[in-house]
Amino acid sequence: MLPYDAVIFDLDGTLTDSEKGIRLCTEYALEKMGRPIPPPETLRRFLGPPLADSFMRWCGMTEEEAARGTDLYRERYIPVGWRENRVYPRIRALLHALKERGAYLAVATGKPQHTSVEILRYFGLLQYFDAVAGPDNRDLHADKADLIRRVLPAGKKAVMVGDIAGDIRGGKDCGIDTLAALYGYGVDEEVLAAKPTLAARTTEEMCRLLCPGMEAPKGAFVTLEGVDGCGKSTQAAALAERLADFGYTVRRTREPGGCPIAEEVRKILLAKEDGGMCAETEALLFAAARAQHLKEVILPAVSRGEIVLCDRFVDSSLVYQGGARGLSEKWIREINRPAFAEGTPDATLYFRMPHEKALARRFSASQPDRIEQAGDAFHARTEAAFEKLYREEPERFLAVNADQTPEKVTDEAFDQLFSRLTERGVL
Ligand code: TMP
Repeated sequence: MLPYDAVIFDLDGTLTDSEKGIRLCTEYALEKMGRPIPPPETLRRFLGPPLADSFMRWCGMTEEEAARGTDLYRERYIPVGWRENRVYPRIRALLHALKERGAYLAVATGKPQHTSVEILRYFGLLQYFDAVAGPDNRDLHADKADLIRRVLPAGKKAVMVGDIAGDIRGGKDCGIDTLAALYGYGVDEEVLAAKPTLAARTTEEMCRLLCPGMEAPKGAFVTLEGVDGCGKSTQAAALAERLADFGYTVRRTREPGGCPIAEEVRKILLAKEDGGMCAETEALLFAAARAQHLKEVILPAVSRGEIVLCDRFVDSSLVYQGGARGLSEKWIREINRPAFAEGTPDATLYFRMPHEKALARRFSASQPDRIEQAGDAFHARTEAAFEKLYREEPERFLAVNADQTPEKVTDEAFDQLFSRLTERGVL
């Protein structure tokens, strides 16, 4: 049984951390108006209340000036600012759990209705809400209680969740319980002075209050693979950022390496001078580093509910030491038993690209390592071996066209990965 079967959320500072976008757009508007930028403590006060009210209260603007400020703010917010936003951790899982248990969910926000819907849609949250209320673009001083009333269902036990005193007062004006999200932008004393029914310092605590018995966070193991120079390290950074924006706790790591013992092994493996390392030694060193990395870093992080993004994993051994160096696949599987037994990735992003093109890019970027210095025939074999693995396990591999702009590659990889994660209940 849920304590509330209708939960109405504020957006900024409650579901998403929009600090960055709001701060940059406010500064943009003030600069265009030739006004001084207030100190950071004051700019933080812009988060939550209607923007025009903040311009009047903190920058001494008149009503007309505040309207002009709002227009300028939108000039930057509409094309870029709205995406400079981050879903708080556990919010997606909480909404999912509440919905699954039959709750009615709504948003009542001071942010314009249209923008709020777009933000919720972009972050994959819109599907959880029965209704979204926000002011239209002309309604600069929307009253919170009015917004809540627009989405308040009859005959349900409802709670208003918000991070500033205005959210709590709005809920009270509507005669419903309130929950203060103290992790948001409100000043604690002001929010608590409004006497919320409940208060949560973290989203984790909020989950316990709104959905007792909710499932623990579920993690995932995601690997990134592709020929040398396919751009996967750049993509790993961009994807880690995007996943964090979507509310995931991300752990980025790489092979060979990822923990002190394995990083030591990496130095031996990738040393530029070719010390005559034989293929078997190379394969065993990769496997040794991997066993340590899996047990020390990957498995513990996944069981804590994190998304592990690992730049290369055992597929690279099958491809480089197997397909390209010609060692037996059976033996590679044998020496990598921990990885095959416990470390099957939930998804493998395969950044697909012709090896000639990828290598040309790689060589123009920086000094190649020992393996990258191997000849063209070697790299052609790695490409063929990746293609073979992909054909063998099309359900695990998410193939991404890596031969396009980095931004497009990130979008394509992220869309596929996000679908895979949500399908698996990784929220
Ligand atoms: P990087 O390109 O991700 O920095 O990887 C370093 C090199 O190590 C790259 O050329 C691929 C190679 N490698 C293997 O040969 N076998 C393996 O098992 C792994 C993880 C990497």
